[in-house]
Amino acid sequence: MQTLTITKPDDFHLHLRDGAAMASIVNYSAAQFSRAIVMPNLRPAITTVDMALSYRERILDSVDKKYNFEPLMTLYLTDNMLPDVINIAAQTESIKALKYYPAGATTNSDCGVTDIKKIYSVLEAMMKNKLPLLIHGEVADSEVNIFDREKVFIEKVLEPLVDDFCELKIVFEHITTKAAVDFVLNASSNVAATITPQHILLNRNDLFNESFQPHNYCLPVLKEEDDRLAVLDAATSGNSKFFLGTDSAPHSRSKKESGCGCAGIFSAYNALELYVEIFDNQNKLDKVEPFTSFFGADFYGLNRNHEKTTLVKKETRIPEAIPFGDDKLVPLCAGNACSWQVKF
Ligand code: DOR
Ligand code: ZN
Repeated sequence: MQTLTITKPDDFHLHLRDGAAMASIVNYSAAQFSRAIVMPNLRPAITTVDMALSYRERILDSVDKKYNFEPLMTLYLTDNMLPDVINIAAQTESIKALKYYPAGATTNSDCGVTDIKKIYSVLEAMMKNKLPLLIHGEVADSEVNIFDREKVFIEKVLEPLVDDFCELKIVFEHITTKAAVDFVLNASSNVAATITPQHILLNRNDLFNESFQPHNYCLPVLKEEDDRLAVLDAATSGNSKFFLGTDSAPHSRSKKESGCGCAGIFSAYNALELYVEIFDNQNKLDKVEPFTSFFGADFYGLNRNHEKTTLVKKETRIPEAIPFGDDKLVPLCAGNACSWQVKF
């Protein structure tokens, strides 16, 4: 039987939620990943160091003691964030980055930044302290075609931003377009990107197969086939600017299958297995480990993990749904087969 042994990976973009919902899903991530960059878009948003530290404790309380899972915390940028908070965050070991949501761009982003110019003094402090800026790269303008919002964001916000802050470390999160891949490739070594499994596996037709598919709805929304292929190429290229970030974002089945369905795809059930299958299908198994376990750690200035993970090539079926608090959760590719399995 074919096996693959790699350094235990990290997930550089993860939504864990809170309370009972978190408790029902966090161990899927803890089983596959050593560390995860945890998104701060709770309600209320995680905007202070104290909030991040107590959220971290709640996460650790929910993690099964058999895992050495390390949550790496982020703060949520608002128009009112102060440079002093950045200075304190920089001295706090478990806080690793700040998240920039354009206000109104996505789930729980209503108190995000309304104009990047309003946080220039904060970005200055981040640059001095070498704290990375994690960007949800879409304009929140409802006049802009939803499929163009990432491209327009690059032109209107990102290009001026990297000119004004050339030393700032930036992670362009969950890239979805050829334009984003090209932007990252042409940018300095301070700019990198995370790539989700869904943006490699699916294109926008997958939102409308036979009927509307709410479980394939996330933001940034799935794009065209050419974009998917560009993102797939970037992920499997061996270029250190691209690394694993699942953006696993659980919403209960009842909230997804509703008249006003939430954006977010839950992939943490078996994200690592899906990535390995993707690389295998491209005959790029040799490129898995750098993407899953090296490039992200290197970019963040973290030590690479020592623990190993072994996967076996063995078909398993992804369940139709799993428990989520007192509701259910439908994982990415629910009901489909996956050809790789993590050996526990
Ligand atoms: O689809 C998404 N869901 N995109 C985001 O940016 C946020 C996330 C969530 O928190 O559900
Ligand atoms: Zn996200």
